[in-house]
Amino acid sequence: MQDPADLAFPEPDEAAKAVSARLFERIREEIRSAPDARIPFSRFMGMALYASGLGYYSAGSAKFGPEGDFVTAPETSALFARCLARQIAEVLPSTEGDRLEVGAGSGALCLGVLDELERMGTVPARYFILELSADLKERQQSLLRARLPHLADRVCWLSEWPEAPWDGVIVANELLDAMPIHRVLKAGREWREICVGEDGNGLFMDQREIVDPRVRDAVNVIDGAFPDLPEGYLTEINLASGDWVRSVGGFLGRGLVLIIDYGYPRAEYYLAERTAGTLMCYYRHRGHDDPLRWIGLQDITAHVDFTALAEAAVETELDVLGFTTQAQFLLGCGILDMATADDALEQARIAHQLRTLLMPGGMGESFKVLALGRGVEAPLTGFSMRDERFRL
Ligand SMILES: C[S@@+](CC[C@H](N)C(=O)[O-])C[C@H]1O[C@@H](n2cnc3c(N)ncnc32)[C@H](O)[C@@H]1O
Repeated sequence: MQDPADLAFPEPDEAAKAVSARLFERIREEIRSAPDARIPFSRFMGMALYASGLGYYSAGSAKFGPEGDFVTAPETSALFARCLARQIAEVLPSTEGDRLEVGAGSGALCLGVLDELERMGTVPARYFILELSADLKERQQSLLRARLPHLADRVCWLSEWPEAPWDGVIVANELLDAMPIHRVLKAGREWREICVGEDGNGLFMDQREIVDPRVRDAVNVIDGAFPDLPEGYLTEINLASGDWVRSVGGFLGRGLVLIIDYGYPRAEYYLAERTAGTLMCYYRHRGHDDPLRWIGLQDITAHVDFTALAEAAVETELDVLGFTTQAQFLLGCGILDMATADDALEQARIAHQLRTLLMPGGMGESFKVLALGRGVEAPLTGFSMRDERFRL
């Protein structure tokens, strides 16, 4: 009999199932050649999302929007990109340089930022995108050619970080939540690592001693700060996001980095009651917590520890310039002044978008904005309503 939970979970088509089966084979081969026939969860997640031509972000599924699996802020409303453009325009006179977007998804944010900068008379000579997925890079190119043909030539795709020193503004919206995380479990008094094995029927989760010294160090920080977490506590460690900040610190000359994502300061991330962590999977707008389901066809994501990002920034001598909720950031950038419409229908549409972007039940509180930088004058307009760096 079909599990009632599956009734709400649409069946992928045959082509999608074939991609998933090939990815499963590739992961299985890797598990079989691992010394203890187990791979770290982070490796599994990296392959599920990014394996060349087969991973969730690398293969051709819709991903974004109503036809896809989830909706991001730039997909929700053009007002989001317009607000970011205003924040970018504010700092450019002091930083000069270019703009760089990392992980550009469908290209909606780039489109909206360029459009608004043009309206403001500050259209840049170049807008760089660093995108891991060849499939998404093609989609970004088509979108820009179709919707902003006169500016499309100014967008350049990079395959690696620019050379140091690079001046300008970097934007990363919902990038760091899509990076592979380690999962760790408190078992008795010790912490163990979640890994993935294979038993002839399929993949399964297992646990083992933590061998990676960086994971061990990160666990020691959590354990030291929160010694009373209950036995069986399952959570995540995102080493890749700290590495990302350190890389940016390595090449940024003068400039601003805006990181927008869902997440918490560390003290709120590792709450005793958050016993199953924050890992979530999305398939056709259904959220669940089983990353082994339909491998490669669903998004896998985890919240961001913003304190870890601020610590990485300080390590690499970047200034922490602001931290606030998405709602306060957008209000500070003047979203309400931009939210005008000529007719009642458009007004209703915009009111709906504002609710999604700003309300606590939507993206307003769960999404945060962290500004890092070097040689940039604060205060920044996006943090003028409220700056909560003290929470980090
Ligand atoms: C959740 S999507 C967000 C897309 C877009 N920023 C938005 O808000 O709609 C994550 C994006 O980051 C890209 N990505 C993930 N890791 C990356 C990395 N290390 N470097 C560049 N892009 C990356 C993915 O391919 C995808 O385009």
